Amino acid sequence: MTSTPAVPLADPELADRLTGRLALVEEQLRGAVAHADALADDASRHLVNAGGKRLRPLLTLLTAELGDGARREVLDAAVVVELTHLATLYHDDVMDSAPMRRGAPTAHEVWGNSVAILTGDLLFARASSTVAGLGPEAVRIQSATFERLCLGQLHETVGPRGDEDPVAHYRQVLADKTGSLIATSARLGAMFAGCAPDVVATVTAFGERIGVAFQLADDVIDLTSDGSVTGKTPGTDLREGVPTMPALLLRARVATGVADDHDREVLALLDTDLSDDAALAAAVAALAAHPVVAETRAQAVALVHEAVAELEPLPDGPAKDALVSFAELLVDRAS
Ligand code: IPE
Ligand code: IPE
Ligand code: MG
Ligand code: MG
Repeated sequence: MTSTPAVPLADPELADRLTGRLALVEEQLRGAVAHADALADDASRHLVNAGGKRLRPLLTLLTAELGDGARREVLDAAVVVELTHLATLYHDDVMDSAPMRRGAPTAHEVWGNSVAILTGDLLFARASSTVAGLGPEAVRIQSATFERLCLGQLHETVGPRGDEDPVAHYRQVLADKTGSLIATSARLGAMFAGCAPDVVATVTAFGERIGVAFQLADDVIDLTSDGSVTGKTPGTDLREGVPTMPALLLRARVATGVADDHDREVLALLDTDLSDDAALAAAVAALAAHPVVAETRAQAVALVHEAVAELEPLPDGPAKDALVSFAELLVDRAS
């Protein structure tokens, strides 16, 4: 893991400043996951060492540029959001039976489900300890975020009620499981940089929208990107029956009677036994080539446009430009 920002920043001074701050976040992060117990230490360091884009801490540092980004609390907030993210990844990989994450075998593949779940809990404990140093408001924000994250994962797991529209239900899942933490990453940066409440609210709304767009792009990446690029196993969502926007859009076509023969053929592939590698590869290829993928991308791009429009009241300058680049990169990425 290098500390170069995952988003190209046009302003060289800003790029230098953020590279320096990301290196400090990285150092603090590695300290925060260390344990005296050898197993807890190995398992907690596993995913930090494996890499990752560090997008959430980068967003915290970026929104902090709207105020005094040099404050120590901003760095602590950046560490908190990455630790929270890490905790959810350990749990998510158990739930999704994912074999690979950040190019490494997942923790449950290495140590089994119990150790993976407990490691997620340990990381969450460390996030809580760091956020405690930021005061009660940050603790409240962090706990509300974690609650939304869990509810998002829970609602994804149980699916929509009989009277709920599956696509609308899933949009709420995306907002809760992914939008919530990305919104908080943006919010804490501005808050601890001393920005005015209206600026904090603006970047929070921006973060929530780009978070949903980010997860829509992730759903597409599960179908269209190679594992050597993403560090994750393609088709994991399909194999595990995890709902994704492309699959839901296809199901909606069939359910509403607007489907053609090809739509029905692709859906039939999704509904076969995908534990077989060849069947999974065929289902992934068919869905990846279907127009619902472009429809999903279009939803993500529309959300990014809305998010960028939210930034309108902010003063023009390198920080705002960087937030726009950040938003655009989230949906125009292969990993
Ligand atoms: C993966 O997040 C989980 C989702 C919310 C889709 P990232 O794509 O940010 O994962 P890392 O941190 O770079 O590994
Ligand atoms: C999980 O979404 C988002 C979290 C809150 C961890 P995914 O299941 O799509 O994330 P990946 O694809 O495994 O990273
Ligand atoms: Mg997953
Ligand atoms: Mg995914």
